[in-house]
Amino acid sequence: MKFSERLRDLGLKILARKGFKKGAFSKGATNIRQSASSTDVSKEIGKTVGGSPSARKAQRGYYHLASAAKVLEGRIDALACSIPTGSTILDIGCNDGTISSALIDRGVLKKAYGIDLENIIAHERPEFEFIEGDIRAMDIASLPDADGVLLLNVLHHLIRSSRKRAQEILDGLLQRYKFVFIDLGSFSEEEDRGWRRAIGRHWNSDAEMWDSLFQKAAWRFKLLRYPAQDGGHRVLWKLYHTPYELREFSVVQSFVKTPGSWPGDKALLPIGDVNELSKPPAGRVIFEKIISAQRDIFWVKRYLPPLRPGVASMEYEIWRAVKKNLEERKLSSEKKFVHLAVSELVEFPDPRVVCAIYEPDILASAAVHFQDWIKFFDASDAYLLGAFAARTLSMRDLRRVKIIHICDFQAVSAWDGIKLIDFEPNFWARRFLLDKGE
Ligand SMILES: C[S@@+](CC[C@H](N)C(=O)[O-])C[C@H]1O[C@@H](n2cnc3c(N)ncnc32)[C@H](O)[C@@H]1O
Repeated sequence: MKFSERLRDLGLKILARKGFKKGAFSKGATNIRQSASSTDVSKEIGKTVGGSPSARKAQRGYYHLASAAKVLEGRIDALACSIPTGSTILDIGCNDGTISSALIDRGVLKKAYGIDLENIIAHERPEFEFIEGDIRAMDIASLPDADGVLLLNVLHHLIRSSRKRAQEILDGLLQRYKFVFIDLGSFSEEEDRGWRRAIGRHWNSDAEMWDSLFQKAAWRFKLLRYPAQDGGHRVLWKLYHTPYELREFSVVQSFVKTPGSWPGDKALLPIGDVNELSKPPAGRVIFEKIISAQRDIFWVKRYLPPLRPGVASMEYEIWRAVKKNLEERKLSSEKKFVHLAVSELVEFPDPRVVCAIYEPDILASAAVHFQDWIKFFDASDAYLLGAFAARTLSMRDLRRVKIIHICDFQAVSAWDGIKLIDFEPNFWARRFLLDKGE
């Protein structure tokens, strides 16, 4: 594609008409800034996408709003912790460039491209290039190369004008870039605003909205929950279209769990070296918080030997059956179980060992054992769990067994309302496996 066509696709019609040369695009923000007439470009873009005059203006004074100012540092900290050092980022809806510039200052970003409706950049620097335009009118394929994207507090504005276009933009970004950071308006915010009415027209809850918007993201990490206006809250996510192989990682901290099935009794106790414990931990299970080379944090539940391979393979088989069943139910017209998930079981760190991997926040939430279901679940959840419990499974290297006899279900209700099912092989099962010499 010719460079002038690329500019046109980016919504930069004026620059394209002025015959902007290819080199100018990468020479720094000033080239683009000084050469573009913001007002003209904005008008052009407004026409292209049919926006109202007010929608064509960038949001001035955003960081003077008390709600934005008080959470800024926390959001920047969370981003800084999970962006690989030296990354190049595309900051869509960059406003005055505050976030990208802070990440450059901290040595996290090598380079940032900022896009917004209008040039209100307050942080001019060679590492930051500003591109004026409306993301709704841009072709994702023509955006600059980068490692990842910041789509921060913009998507709800896009949903307001077109849910379809907003979804296309997010899907396109996920497809093209390795990761996308996103936060957006939430159902917990009750003030009457255009975007709030818009999300309320399309979904019923944050959980439903995230499931629908993030459907092309195979991995989603919740990095931060922070207060929004009116007592509500927003969540900062890191999304991946394609999961990566978890090869390089370091253990941040190991934990053992306290025995007990009541949520209040459950806790994780940090430990030093697992080999120095005076007796095996409850359930012969340890939890590890690990960080990958890509700076994502995982929770790993690991079975200690000698039980590990058998118990883990049993969990794996149960997990497969439950996941399949859940997927079928989600596809069915009932849609009753959309907010139930199963913890991901993977062969990790090598193919002989199966581990449960959780999203980072899960263990901070209330966890309950299956036998307590009546206190925590409604009838449909109980039915689902009951259906699994009655199932007979055949397992690798094991006799066919009924799940109810060999493990407890453990269900975790996370703060975002998404419930997660995990399995806890019980003592009976361990004996069974031990009898088989494992
Ligand atoms: C609420 S501010 C968020 C600023 C910053 N990303 C953050 O999260 O702190 C939203 C920004 O998105 C910009 N914006 C809104 N719609 C846009 C669009 N269609 N294309 C590009 N930028 C847009 C606004 O001008 C504004 O600067």
